[in-house]
Amino acid sequence: MKTLEEIKSECASCQKCPLCESRTNSVFGVGVPNAEIMLIGEAPGENEDLTGVPFVGRAGKLLDKVLEEAGFSREKNIFIANMLKCRPPKNRDPLPSEVDLCVEYLKKQIEAINPKVIVLVGRISAMYFLGKDFKMTRQHGNAYYQEGRLWYPIFHPAAILRNMNQLPLMQEDIMKLRKMVDEIK
Ligand code: URA
Repeated sequence: MKTLEEIKSECASCQKCPLCESRTNSVFGVGVPNAEIMLIGEAPGENEDLTGVPFVGRAGKLLDKVLEEAGFSREKNIFIANMLKCRPPKNRDPLPSEVDLCVEYLKKQIEAINPKVIVLVGRISAMYFLGKDFKMTRQHGNAYYQEGRLWYPIFHPAAILRNMNQLPLMQEDIMKLRKMVDEIK
């Protein structure tokens, strides 16, 4: 099994897909290396590409705030990464070919971190891991047990920013996550 540092350096020099040509930084992920909770978003945006850190723009700040309300933070108890390590042009959805190539890094990260719960942030990661028929409006906040861990889909904070009426749904899902994590300890 590779260490997180080894996987990170592979990502930094990756040239498996054309996104490497336009990247400023690959965005490997940040947080606690042996966290019990890992979050998986979609792909870096402009701010993430510039800084090399996931979820640092407006959506990321909202995500951090909702997580903090339930006692979760990158410094203390979670690890955050994305399906893609490099930014797609104009923030378009990841292409299936990009996901297929890049998810190998993510799978190695999951193996190295070995979290008990994987929070799927948004439909892109949820559909990949829970199936293409996944529907966020119906299935958010439900935990699915597969491959020895819980998989837990939540709304993407960028979707919440487009429709702030849904913020309480995201907050409830994160509070439920808190309870779930406390119960499996
Ligand atoms: N959206 C994501 O899905 N990931 C990021 O890192 C930033 C925005």
